[in-house]
Amino acid sequence: MTGDIARARDLLDHATSVAVLTGAGISAESGIPTFRDALTGLWEKFRPEELATPEAFEANPKLVWDWYAWRRGVVAKAQPNAGHRALADLERQCRGHEVDFTLVTQNVDGLHREAGSQRVVELHGNIRRVKCFDRHHPVESWPEGDHVPTCPRCGSLLRPDVVWFGEAMPPEVLATAVAAARTCDVFLCVGTSTVVEPAASLPFLALDSGARVIEVNPQATPLTGRASVSLRGTAGAILPLLV
Ligand code: OAD
Repeated sequence: MTGDIARARDLLDHATSVAVLTGAGISAESGIPTFRDALTGLWEKFRPEELATPEAFEANPKLVWDWYAWRRGVVAKAQPNAGHRALADLERQCRGHEVDFTLVTQNVDGLHREAGSQRVVELHGNIRRVKCFDRHHPVESWPEGDHVPTCPRCGSLLRPDVVWFGEAMPPEVLATAVAAARTCDVFLCVGTSTVVEPAASLPFLALDSGARVIEVNPQATPLTGRASVSLRGTAGAILPLLV
């Protein structure tokens, strides 16, 4: 492992452009459950894929709203961990040496920005924001109660401002992520199972464009066999050793 850490540091030290992709694993040590590790408690019988769709919301808006309200509560209590902070440090170091840096995240928890990261591409939106279902009007505040709140402008039901399965992400957001993957020479992939598209393709796009890929994950993933360096451990333990 020590040799692998040294190799990963060497790759980062010599990079001229760094792209990072994070998934739910980086926030696990902040107490936010991942998606494909077992859910606990009230929600253990639901699969995210069955709740995170427009069809699920139309069929049972209260169930979906309550699931997101529960997740929003978990996120509100969470603090960035050593992994988030290390990536913010890495960005500062890169900027100091005129190295391009882009952090792409699938997470909707906002913890990267809270840790001090600046150039953050949120592929799946942000759970702290809310918009209306019909017309996507952004809404700043809403009453908590027994019913799903409605939009003050058009009366449609409110929903979280996240990207659900079956929905397209904003094209400019995806384009920024794809450009970062294509142009980087080192791609760091942290805490994602690399199974949900289009994010899952980003490290492979980087590989096909000639980049070296470093993976940080306690488990093997579909990317592991192609990574230049695979660091088996948690983000909070490994990332501070890279920066
Ligand atoms: P997953 O739950 O699929 O995968 C989490 C990954 O993090 C797994 O590979 C774990 O091995 C790894 N992991 C767990 N603890 C870790 C730790 N402490 N440090 C580092 N890695 C750790 O989450 P994502 O890959 O982010 O989409 O899932 C992708 C998308 O699927 C999510 O954005 C969400 C979900 O359904 C939408 O909601 C659209």
